[in-house]
Amino acid sequence: MKASRRLDSIPVSGIRKMFDLARPDSINLGLGEPDLAPPREAVEGMARAAMEGRNRYGPTAGSPALREAVAEAFSRFGDLRPGNVMITPSGSSALMEIAQAFIDEGDEALVPDPGFVMYDPLARLAGGRPVGYRLDGGFQPDIEDIKSKMTDKTKIIVVNSPSNPTGGVLGEEAYGALCDIAADSGATIVSDEVYFCYVYEGRHRSFMSKLDRAVVVNSFSKMMAVTGWRLGFVCADEALMPDLVKMQYHMCASVNMPSEYGVLSALPGIDGYLEEARGIFRKRRDLISARIAEIKGMEMDPPKGAFYAFPSFDMDVTSVELAGELLKNGLVCTPGTAFGSRGEGHLRFSYAADEDKINAGMDILEATVKKIRRG
Ligand SMILES: Cc1ncc(COP(=O)(O)O)c(C=O)c1O
Repeated sequence: MKASRRLDSIPVSGIRKMFDLARPDSINLGLGEPDLAPPREAVEGMARAAMEGRNRYGPTAGSPALREAVAEAFSRFGDLRPGNVMITPSGSSALMEIAQAFIDEGDEALVPDPGFVMYDPLARLAGGRPVGYRLDGGFQPDIEDIKSKMTDKTKIIVVNSPSNPTGGVLGEEAYGALCDIAADSGATIVSDEVYFCYVYEGRHRSFMSKLDRAVVVNSFSKMMAVTGWRLGFVCADEALMPDLVKMQYHMCASVNMPSEYGVLSALPGIDGYLEEARGIFRKRRDLISARIAEIKGMEMDPPKGAFYAFPSFDMDVTSVELAGELLKNGLVCTPGTAFGSRGEGHLRFSYAADEDKINAGMDILEATVKKIRRG
C-alpha cells in the first residue's frame, strides 16, 4: 500500500536517521534523553499501580488526581486549575493533538528555524503551512522576522524554551514581544516547555500564566527521565479543553494508567530530584562548552538551558557532511539542518551523557575538525 500524500510530503527525522546509522561502539551524543535514573517513587508508584490492577482504560483527559497534582505543582508558573490540564500520551502526542485540533487546511503555523524536528511536519500533516522564523545570535526568536511573517492566516506561533536544538532560553524582552504579538493578532502561542526544568542561566518564562493567548505543552519524559513511559500534559484555557479531549479520545482513548500513578507518586518531591539533575547537567554543559571552545573552527556560547550544545563551524562542508564524517570516526551527533534550513553551519550534541562519553566524543570532534581544516 502506498503512503498517503500527506505522509509522503514529509521527510524521516534527521535524528532517527543518524541513530540508525550508529555502530554499536559509537559515542552517541545524538539522542536527547536523560541518562539518569528516574525518581524511585516514580518507578515504585508505577509498579505498584500495575500490580494493584490499575491496568485499564482511564478518563480521556487523564486521572483527576494527576490533573490536580499537575495544576498544583505548576501553579508557580500560572493560576492553574485541574480543568486547565489534560494528561497526554507524551509531549509529542500533545503537539500532534494541538495541530490536529486547531489547524485547518491552509492555516499557517510559525515555527522556529532551527527548531525541534516535529513542528514543521505536524503542521503539514494537519493540512497547514509551516512558516519558519529566524532566531537571533543569542537564539532568541527574531521578533521583527515573526512580525514580517504574520498574515491573516497565521493561527499558531510555536515557541520552545529552553530550546531543542539551540539550548536557548527565552529572555524577558522576547517573551513580552511574543505576548504582544499574540494579543494584537489573535494568533495562539503554542509553547513547548518540556525542558523547563533545565535552565542554568536566567529563569524559565512560562506561558502558563497566559492561557488566554497560549497553549502549553509539557512532558514527564525529561523531567523524570522516563522517556519510555510516554506521558506528558497540555495546559490550556478551559474553553479549549473539550476540543483537546475530543481529539485525544480519537487518538488514544486514554493514557498509560500505571505511568500516571508513577509520576503522581514522584511529583510532590520532584524539586529535590531536579535540583540534583540540574547540577549534573550544568557540569556537563560546562565541560562540553570548554572542550568546544578549544577547537579551532568551532564556536559556541555556553547554552543556557536544555541539554544540547549547538555550536557553529567555520569549514567548507555542510552539516550533513560533517556529521557523516564524525559518524565514520565513531561519534554520533545531529546535523543542524535536521532542525531546518537555518540550522546549516551547526551541529547538535546532546550532553545527556556522562563526562567520559562527552570527553571521548569531543576528542573525536577535535581530531576530525583538525583533519578537515588541514585539507
Ligand atoms: C522540544 C521537544 N518537545 C517535545 C518533545 C517530545 O517529548 P516526549 O514525546 O518524550 O514527551 C521533545 C523530545 O525530544 C523535544 O525535544
